[in-house]
Parts: sequence; structure tokens; C-alpha cells
Amino acid sequence: MPNMIPVITIDGPSGTGKGTISQMLAKQLGWHYLDSGALYRVLAWTAIEQQVSFDQDEQLVILAQQLTVEFSVNNGIESQIKCGLTDVTAAIRTPEVTQASSIISAKPLVRQALLERQRAFRQASGLVTDGRDMGTVIFPDAPLKLFMTADPDERARRRYNELKSKGIDVNLPTVLDALNKRDTRDEERATAPLKPAVDAILIDTTALNIEETFQLVMQKVRDQHLI
Ligand code: DC
Repeated sequence: MPNMIPVITIDGPSGTGKGTISQMLAKQLGWHYLDSGALYRVLAWTAIEQQVSFDQDEQLVILAQQLTVEFSVNNGIESQIKCGLTDVTAAIRTPEVTQASSIISAKPLVRQALLERQRAFRQASGLVTDGRDMGTVIFPDAPLKLFMTADPDERARRRYNELKSKGIDVNLPTVLDALNKRDTRDEERATAPLKPAVDAILIDTTALNIEETFQLVMQKVRDQHLI
């Protein structure tokens, strides 16, 4: 029987605004929100903490199966992420964990271990998801799939500002280089690569601010009769 609970998938590389837009949309609709990248980040953080190296696939799978992740949403904004009793909200956003999450997420067994956990977020009245393979693999039956893109230089600039505002010491060329490496790894992996679903709507946010992007997305939601 088809699942009648609607899902809006928002996929794309980082720095396109998809995280912010997904959260705004979930708040506006009163739906649940899944930050799938955070699951890979928490797993990467745990592996580093427990000194599991990234080539120990079986150990990574066990960690993934045992992972306890708790998301707190405050006024529609993801305010805290806990792994067990530890607040990892800031720790999972460091450049080290960012690259590590991209490396371990390329592993098919790791992705498999996190699959059902992601689908379990589909609860009434609906779900907005943010990721790389939400429309292609996790929720292929989603009634609305968006794929956000933006020019890499602009994405690097946004990411640089975001990291700076969090007090993380970085420079723009390093951010651009890390972003390009991560995009290539995410796009070229064999399992669930970063790519638009065939039925996804592409949104280029290079020249759009968050409010303009949100208005465009809301129009797609209305076109699809989801509100
Ligand atoms: O969206 P993010 O930057 O938090 O994601 C971190 C990494 O996790 C990203 O480089 C690739 C991986 N990821 C993934 O493989 N599939 C997803 N659905 C979400 C993230």
C-alpha cells in the first residue's frame, strides 16, 4: 500500500541553502524535518571518538546500528543534536568531521545501516528532508522533489561565512578546495551518488537570497497542491 504521508525531498551539495530552506519549509508546513547529513556526521564523529578507522567497514556498520541520535527543534530551527548524552551540535560541523562524513557515507553498508532510520522520520502530517539521496533512494515516491544547486564559488563563500560566524578559523581557498573535493566524492561514489532524481525540479540559488529561494520553493509546494 502506498504511504500517504507526504514527503518533500531537498537534495543538493552544501552551500546551496538547502538546510535553511528545508527547516523554514518544515516550520511553515508544520511538518517533521530530517537532516540526513547530520546522521552521517554523528556517525563520523563517533568513529573518530572511538578511534574506529574509516576502512573498518564492519565496525562502522555496528556503530551505525547502535547510534543514538536525538534532534531538538526549537521554533522550527534545529537547535541541538545529541549523540547519547553528548551535545554534538557544534562538534559535527568541524572541517574534520565534514570530510570524514563524506568518506564514510560512500560505503554501501553504512548507507544500508542508516536507511530504515531515515524512513522512520516519515510521520503525519508530513516530512521535509535534506540530503543527497532523499529523492533518488530514501523517498523515491515523494510527491515533490527539489534539487538545489549554486555556483561553487558562491557556495564556498557562503560556507566560509557560516564557519566564520561559528568562530571556526578558515580561509576561502581552503574552503573552496574542501568543498570541491567533497562534491567530487559525493557525486562519483557508486552507491546513492549526489544527483537529481529524474523527476526532481532543479533550483539554482546562485543569484537568489534565502527569502527569494523560499518564495520559489513555496510556489512549487502550491503547484503540487501540497497546501
Ligand atoms: O548535508 P551535510 O553537509 O551535512 O552532509 C555531510 C555528508 O554526508 C556529505 O558530504 C555526504 C553525506 N550525505 C550523504 O551521503 N547522504 C545524505 N543523504 C546526506 C549526507
